[in-house]
Amino acid sequence: MRLSHTLFTAAAIAALSSTAFAQAQLPPLKVGLMLPATGTFAALGDMIERGFKLHVEEQGGKLGGRTIQYFKVDDESEPSKATDNVNKLIKRDNVDVIVGTVHSGVALAMARAAKDSGTLLIVPNAGADAITGPQCAPNIFRSSFSNWQPGYATGVVAAGKGYKRAMTITWNYAAGNETVKGFTEAFEKGGGKVIKDMSLPFPGVEFQPLLTEIAAQKPDVVFAFFAGGGAVKFVKDYDAAGLKKSIPLVGSGFLTDGTLEAQGASAQGLITALHYGDNIETPRNTAFRNKFAVANKVNPDVYALQGYDAAQMLAIGLASVKGDTSKKDALYAAMNKAQIDSPRGKFTLSPQRNPTQDFYVREVKGNYNVVTGVAVKALADPGRGCKP
Ligand code: PHB
Repeated sequence: MRLSHTLFTAAAIAALSSTAFAQAQLPPLKVGLMLPATGTFAALGDMIERGFKLHVEEQGGKLGGRTIQYFKVDDESEPSKATDNVNKLIKRDNVDVIVGTVHSGVALAMARAAKDSGTLLIVPNAGADAITGPQCAPNIFRSSFSNWQPGYATGVVAAGKGYKRAMTITWNYAAGNETVKGFTEAFEKGGGKVIKDMSLPFPGVEFQPLLTEIAAQKPDVVFAFFAGGGAVKFVKDYDAAGLKKSIPLVGSGFLTDGTLEAQGASAQGLITALHYGDNIETPRNTAFRNKFAVANKVNPDVYALQGYDAAQMLAIGLASVKGDTSKKDALYAAMNKAQIDSPRGKFTLSPQRNPTQDFYVREVKGNYNVVTGVAVKALADPGRGCKP
């Protein structure tokens, strides 16, 4: 009697192990959000999280049939703490996927840890070229850009305006230096010459001596990479120094994204290049902007967009394996070959898993980065040094 009961139970369990049963039993998907909650990039981290969560909510709170459990670490945009911080998510919380971060130096340490542990990493901002270059790995994806891309696109725009002599100014770290390199490559290919590169340590805002140098050299144009709180201060200081009237300032679009209310009149008319703009008039972007504004009582920016698309990429991958993250090859293949229906415009991923996307010319009008044209269509990062 007891034996037959045992046999029946075993048979019943086997019968129930159909896909539907197995799926119903999958535990919540653990998502580790490693983003800055303090410092000059705090607002950027906040927008990425809001964007990510908006897409998850659109999917009814589930991706690939699994509810989402969030784990959060404030990375402080501090590279020296990055390895310890990412290991809190990988080793302590045992997350299934890491989403982060903003700062390239922090993200480089995260990519190393992700490569070593095999944890899926989706980078929703940091552009460090190496992440989809020499440090690439099948489990490392980016929903944003490589630093080279917006730098290059802005160089195309500046050369196209006929400027010949440029100076560059940025923070001395991977994002600043790589963005300037991209700018220089395109600007000089277009017939210009970068006469001087200037930088200060991240996240410094002592711009005065550098502005004095710009005034003395009188270039045709200044290219700047700054973002977040630092970008607010730089744009205001450039104007207050009297330079805005005499020497055109251009930048990768981070210079004026998520910052316009704080920059006010100082930002009006600035020209930048980026893979997003506020007024892209497609049903997809309009729906995104309306939903985001209703949910958050604030308009989205490029960071919100990148967080949203990180969730879209994850959703596509998980749907393809019905939430079963042990099917890594199938999961990564689905993500890599997906066409993402982004509010920025549809994009695909390069073999190195970085977005191949259009870069827009934008002009600041009021509190908006208004698209006035396309700088480069379907710009792909060269992915130098990645062996896929
Ligand atoms: C970066 O560190 O890669 C970075 C930070 C802020 C941005 C863009 C890139 O807006």
